[in-house]
Amino acid sequence: MLRIFLKIIVGSIYALNPVIGVFAQNSFSQPLFEYNAINHPVMGKSGMVASHNELSSEIAAEILASGGNAIDAGAALGFALAVTLPRAGNIGGGGFMLVHVAKLDKTIAIDFRETAPASANRDMFFDADGNVVLDETYRFSHKSSAVPGSVAGLAHIVQKYGTMSLAEVLEPAIRLARDGITVTYDLAADLARTQRLKNNPASLRKFYKPDGSNYEVGELFKQPDLAWTLSEIAEHGVAAFYSGSVAKKIVADMEAHNGLITMDDLVDYRVIEREPVQSTYRGYTIEAMPAPSSGGTHVIQMLNILENFPLAKMGSESSDALHVMAEAMKFSYADRSKYLGDPDFVEVPTKTLVSKEYAKDLAKRISMERALPSDEVAPGNLAIYESDETTHYSVADEEGNMVGNTYTLMFSFGSGVVIEGTGILMNNNMGNFTLRSDIPDAFGLMGSENNLISPNRRPVSSMSPVLVSRDGAPLLMTGSPGGSKIISANMQMVLNVLEFGMNIADAAVAPRIHHQWRPEVLEIESGISPDTVSRLIDKGHNINFSQRSAGMGSLQTVMWKDGIFYGYSDPRRPGAGAVGVD
Ligand code: DON
Repeated sequence: MLRIFLKIIVGSIYALNPVIGVFAQNSFSQPLFEYNAINHPVMGKSGMVASHNELSSEIAAEILASGGNAIDAGAALGFALAVTLPRAGNIGGGGFMLVHVAKLDKTIAIDFRETAPASANRDMFFDADGNVVLDETYRFSHKSSAVPGSVAGLAHIVQKYGTMSLAEVLEPAIRLARDGITVTYDLAADLARTQRLKNNPASLRKFYKPDGSNYEVGELFKQPDLAWTLSEIAEHGVAAFYSGSVAKKIVADMEAHNGLITMDDLVDYRVIEREPVQSTYRGYTIEAMPAPSSGGTHVIQMLNILENFPLAKMGSESSDALHVMAEAMKFSYADRSKYLGDPDFVEVPTKTLVSKEYAKDLAKRISMERALPSDEVAPGNLAIYESDETTHYSVADEEGNMVGNTYTLMFSFGSGVVIEGTGILMNNNMGNFTLRSDIPDAFGLMGSENNLISPNRRPVSSMSPVLVSRDGAPLLMTGSPGGSKIISANMQMVLNVLEFGMNIADAAVAPRIHHQWRPEVLEIESGISPDTVSRLIDKGHNINFSQRSAGMGSLQTVMWKDGIFYGYSDPRRPGAGAVGVD
């Protein structure tokens, strides 16, 4: 009763005095299931899953409910999404996971990024005259694929930190592939519009009916070849994929179509455990993915810069707060273009990039009156040229384990190439390498010598799950697809919760902004007031408006606070869903 009374008092103070109100809103000490929100997270007593496919979230939640831990559920979810969300869920791609292992009291960064085949080289997408050729071969061919890491990555976590066997976590995916899934609106629309899947005979057979027509909503979609592949892995372990029956089919198909991946490339593939990049934001610990992902480094760099400004006081969605965020983004994306690369090949100055001192110096360069032109941040040039697809999911259990996985085929349906007889859709992540420092990558991102194609190198990525903890206890795991926008989307989720006191649902729905230094454009989603936007224009920002949409990423977030689990799937993409376990 007293609390309700206090809330009414605080509410009326907020109405009368926005500064005090913002302060109260920002205290972050209130329970997060209060009714002073527009969007509400899913809740659960003993676990939570948020992913881009509700059916797959349910499968992972069932594993939690029947005694598996978040790591078992996370691995099962990765395999299930390869069946239910074929445009991004995969076993033919790769990615990055953060695994918080409760019994070790430690967060481990799992790098299962694809590697360039041993015969790849920096000139492979240039013609004899030294001109870059960004044609079908570059984007949608066997040659566009790097060596996949997903099977090794998912197996690694379950075998090292899980409680179930690899065969057990593969079981739901095998069942879904063999018995079929019901075609949703999302899947039907996706397949109908992705014409290039019809160019490769194995892809045509996998994704369309025998007469070549599209699957309709409500029909059963079976993937028998994929069921075979998953069963081989269940029976013979990862060796099936990297040296056994599946590997042989991958290599044969590569040989038949000028692909570069050989048996040696598959045999040599390794998952790498790395130390997460780590920092703090207003007393909370932030852990995220280190290089070769740029994601974690630059989420932290932006937060470090922003910590120097009283953002909560300025107010969420105020022109001052948005201006400072845009400036912080510019500095971070400019540094990304210069410094990021595979740390096993080049020196990446991560320590400096995530240091509070460096962030302070950058913060001093931010003027509240005027947007810094990108040329004054660093030189470059740019054009954007493709659409994309990746997916993220987050899982939490009551032992305190959390898994965040962002993995990708790169573009929607990757290279569009299915390996004959396996149902494996291959990635086109060779496109994440830098071809030349004046040529932007597929997401318009600039890169340097550090990210040129080189045998066995891993291309720089933006993908990064982000874990927020407090006093050693994991609090929030989030992550997103969205190419270059992954970094800014993740940062805004953390900021909205920790700085602006939003629950994770409001934090996901809130309109987002994005500036990646090149092009010199501040992207703003609908929902920000036109008055605010005109103030930003006055400060010199070059604004590009968009609808609130899939283009700005799709955050899949779980939170564990005061014994209650919260989950929320970004509504920007259809078919996603958070499922709680009671
Ligand atoms: O690693 C990267 O940064 C890209 N391959 C991610 C692609 C992506 O997020 C596409 N998603 N919508």
